Amino acid sequence: MKNFSRINVAIVGGSGLEDFLKATEQIRVGTPFGLPSPITIGMVRKKPVAFLPRHGLRHNVPPHRVNYRANLYGLHLLGVERIFATNAVGAIAQNLKPGTLVVPHDFVDFTKSRQGTFYDDAPVTHVDMSQPYCPEMRSALIKAAKTVGESVCDEAVLACTEGPRYETPAEVKLLRHFGCNIVGMTGLPEVVLARELEICYASLSYVSNLAVGLQDHQTVDDIARTAEKCKPIVEQVLKEAIDSLSTTRNCVCVDALKDSQL
Ligand code: HPA
Repeated sequence: MKNFSRINVAIVGGSGLEDFLKATEQIRVGTPFGLPSPITIGMVRKKPVAFLPRHGLRHNVPPHRVNYRANLYGLHLLGVERIFATNAVGAIAQNLKPGTLVVPHDFVDFTKSRQGTFYDDAPVTHVDMSQPYCPEMRSALIKAAKTVGESVCDEAVLACTEGPRYETPAEVKLLRHFGCNIVGMTGLPEVVLARELEICYASLSYVSNLAVGLQDHQTVDDIARTAEKCKPIVEQVLKEAIDSLSTTRNCVCVDALKDSQL
């Protein structure tokens, strides 16, 4: 890293956001968990920001095969303390239309095969998930959306499914019954791993489609088209949110490990 003494903020970009920053430097970081996706560094309103495309630069890693631990640990090694993630999601709630921005406040984890912790061994660690997403980062996203004149759904429960297939109509009914408002395949275990590293984390989700059962059938082309339309707005909101961050963190994430180890 030639030009940047410390990188505090990162964006983990989801589908359609593979090329967010005009990169000035690309780095590969080795981690005990393998290689993360290529990380680029660029400037956002004079702040150095790391950008990591979750699915790789050419979108060639499916959601259930993303190396979430390497990605998060790689950012941690760079000194990152705050992450804004972007996630394409399907709308389970009837009032959420394609194109809507959503900042989830809670999740239900329906994934099956992912390595969801850095603590497979001692010290046995149980991080608190009373507030799964960082309240300060959520608030920065919600305010930023309002500043740029975008409406935003400021509370939602995300269901994270294993994929890579889409859900069945019966599964979507069940998710609705469980109180979930949006469904995606990539939010977990990212949010949990961030907390285990005491990194602040919030997601700027964008509705790319109505969930199965609410529209005739699901095609990746339709979803990609909506994601493409959302992209400039998502970028604008992220830039505004990054600009608004204060230098100090005053949230639950900072001391997440304090009372979590036996
Ligand atoms: N289901 C799961 N993941 C998704 C969807 C969906 O409808 N849309 C975008 N990611």
